[in-house]
Amino acid sequence: MDKHLLGGLSAAEFLRDYWQKQPLLVRNAIPGFAGLLDYTALQALACEDEAQARLIRETKAGWALDHGPFKPSDFKPKARLPWTLLVQELNHHLASARDLLQQFDFIPHARLDDLMVSYAVPGGGVGAHFDSYDVFLLQGSGQRRWQISAQTDLTLVDGAPLKILQNFVPEHEWVLNPGDMLYLPPHYAHNGVAVDACTTYSIGFRAPSVQEIATQFLVYLQDKLDLPGMYQDADLALQSHPGEIGDAMLNQVADMIARVGWQRADIADFLGRYLTEPKPHLFFDPPEPALTQSAFARRAHKQGIALAPKSLMLWRGNTFYLNGEPLAAMPDATTLQQLADRRRLAGAQITASLLIALYPLYLDGYVVLGQAGD
Ligand code: SIN
Ligand code: CO
Repeated sequence: MDKHLLGGLSAAEFLRDYWQKQPLLVRNAIPGFAGLLDYTALQALACEDEAQARLIRETKAGWALDHGPFKPSDFKPKARLPWTLLVQELNHHLASARDLLQQFDFIPHARLDDLMVSYAVPGGGVGAHFDSYDVFLLQGSGQRRWQISAQTDLTLVDGAPLKILQNFVPEHEWVLNPGDMLYLPPHYAHNGVAVDACTTYSIGFRAPSVQEIATQFLVYLQDKLDLPGMYQDADLALQSHPGEIGDAMLNQVADMIARVGWQRADIADFLGRYLTEPKPHLFFDPPEPALTQSAFARRAHKQGIALAPKSLMLWRGNTFYLNGEPLAAMPDATTLQQLADRRRLAGAQITASLLIALYPLYLDGYVVLGQAGD
């Protein structure tokens, strides 16, 4: 990590004093940063089929939200009213976006969501709101005025297509210049308004709710459960009310449900799968044409390999998870840990047995041959 990124704080100091605790404004966090792509390239991206893009406009009737993919004519201002274009998952599309995310490797990958970019015309923004995420708001080109508040009143405007705070009372305000960055913990009220046409890059970290984790764990458990036996009542006593659910029935079902159990290993396995599960709109592109195993091995030795930009890989102990599934017995755990940590491996690091194990992942489009910038 570059020493400017956290304004001279070490990663450990930042985690101790700011992460999930309080906002941090860093002037010149990335010296010379002016954004990763210009407006024309951003528009083109927002018109691609897979792009997760939103257009937010302030109309006379209130906020309006449209989802992409868009057509170039959608960006022609209909009236002189402010608007903003947001594109998620820039890291799936740009090597420079993946390099930028690497600077935030002091936060575990399991917490990372994605890199989003917003482009706004003067006066544009998404309104005063809060997010459930931790976010680093990095100013690209132009200037944006940020107002923030520790307020606990997080009541939202009813019926708006966006989350807009009903009563936003700013406590601090700054104008961010290119390369400046603002960190905000979850649920911190904020409002960013473009001073001139500007771009802002949001490095977002997911923070699942207890409800989400528990619900997803139950879904996982359902697939794993294997409980023998049946309801039995050879000792059925005569009931005076046939419509009543009797105590004996309730007791027996309570005992059945008490047999639903799990170990810490089940939770670890659930987490590995859940945290690497690709979002439902994502599809992987197998190589076209696919190299044979020996040609793949030769090229991988020369060029190295990388995780495909959409791939998510995490590990715990000797178990590796890639895109929602555990990898079956893999050789070279230390090298694989590096693949998960750095998203790439140099050719010299990859043994012949690892190449054999990686080949099916290459055919799935989960792993790609490395190239400069990948
Ligand atoms: C924006 O970039 O306009 C919105 C980012 C945010 O407030 O989370
Ligand atoms: Co926000």
